[in-house]
Amino acid sequence: MGFPNVRARRTRASDAWRRLVRETRLTADALIYPLFVVPGRAVRHAVESMPGICQLSVDEAVKEAKAAAAAGVPAVLLFAAPARKDATASDALDPQGLAAQAIGAIKEACPQVLVWADVCLCGATDHGHCGHVTPQGVIENDSSIQTLAQVAVNYARAGADAVAPSDMMDGRVVAIRARLDAEGHATTPIVAYAAKYASCFYGPFREAAESAPAFGDRRSYQMDPANAREALREVLLDVEEGADLVMVKPAGPYLDVIRQVRDAVRVPVVAYQVSGEFSLIKAAAARGWIDEPAAVLETLTSIRRAGADLIISYFAPEVARWLRP
Ligand code: PBG
Repeated sequence: MGFPNVRARRTRASDAWRRLVRETRLTADALIYPLFVVPGRAVRHAVESMPGICQLSVDEAVKEAKAAAAAGVPAVLLFAAPARKDATASDALDPQGLAAQAIGAIKEACPQVLVWADVCLCGATDHGHCGHVTPQGVIENDSSIQTLAQVAVNYARAGADAVAPSDMMDGRVVAIRARLDAEGHATTPIVAYAAKYASCFYGPFREAAESAPAFGDRRSYQMDPANAREALREVLLDVEEGADLVMVKPAGPYLDVIRQVRDAVRVPVVAYQVSGEFSLIKAAAARGWIDEPAAVLETLTSIRRAGADLIISYFAPEVARWLRP
């Protein structure tokens, strides 16, 4: 049976109808807000390529986390850019290091907000790569995952509600799980950056996190944007290794991957709307070429429609305010 019996427009006739038949809902419950922590006090240093986003000292990060929680955002994702950068990522391993301090301070000031700690070596190493580098310039896998596991334990001890390894080394989820369990953190979940692509859309983030690689690129560990089957392989491996949530990153250019991952696993799927996706919208809106709130809501709704249960977004607190009943 087709037209004129069937008319798809009947259920689009009014806002009330559109609300009734809406398939995907965006709520603040699904949002996670990234924070960039730097040394010092009372520091709010604007990230030029990300309008509205600042590098924050621990005290300011506490304020920002509080404000996000007050807006209705349930979780923050913490990145640290310590002053001390060396070959062994000492600051990330230090119980008094910048990330550990920030985790402790936020949990103390607002215990209701979940603190997810990004676990990687790139922010704390002088070479800016996500793992250990040999004198030949090779990113070493098996020694890196031991260090990453130690970093995860350090953050769990500091009070992190979840650890989120973003390094893309093989076997890091199982290594982190084993070390967390051995150190008394069996209940700390792992959010695995499972399908993380070697994307140009991380450009603005690298300014914020001071984590650009000093040589080469990340293509020997992050995924080729051309591959979707391989994303499923990565995700299934991480689930097998004990990941409690899995992530696809970036989000917007990889909606097909989000859908395939959602259909393949039973754990929550997180999508990361990364810095470049944020900056594109901001830049076009600043020129009056796009309606910012509409673009933000449409991209986030589309990421949810593709199958993401949760979304990490730099727009999180703002969106949470817009969505308030
Ligand atoms: C580092 C890391 C990156 C992002 C999150 N963790 C950058 C990279 O891999 O170079 C990107 C986040 C963003 O662009 O918003 N391991």
